[in-house]
Amino acid sequence: MAEMAIPLVDLKAPYNSIKDEIDDAIQGVIQNSQFILGEEVAAFESELATYCHTKYAIGVASGTDALHLALLACEIKPGDEVITTPFTFISTTEMICECGAKLDFTGNVETECPRCGERYIKQGNLVSKIEIVAKKKAAE
Ligand SMILES: Cc1ncc(COP(=O)(O)O)c(C=O)c1O
Repeated sequence: MAEMAIPLVDLKAPYNSIKDEIDDAIQGVIQNSQFILGEEVAAFESELATYCHTKYAIGVASGTDALHLALLACEIKPGDEVITTPFTFISTTEMICECGAKLDFTGNVETECPRCGERYIKQGNLVSKIEIVAKKKAAE
């Protein structure tokens, strides 16, 4: 049987679909030489907040930073337990450990359907998208 290489992710396809827009934006940043914060970041944060129907959005330097800040915003601290999927990049577990929390790939999570409000058990190791569910200690 012939083997077929299937790429894990194809970043060129979405890039090519809006290539001119991306190239112009990058060229604009280089022309302005405003590489830290500035108008572009402020515009991005504002547009993202609008898109997400939230009051604020904060641009950060990396996905790792975003994960770390999300955990800090949830007030994750030593002694807490964080359930996540093992099917993710190392940063997810790295930042959980950075906060001093206990990592759990196997636990079930009681969660609530955002539409109907019904509570259900979701298996932590079966989540299909990148998702962190933080479970605070029972004492809290
Ligand atoms: C699922 C996931 N989370 C986090 C990261 C970390 O992102 P960054 O390399 O921007 O820190 C990656 C990077 O590939 C990722 O795939």
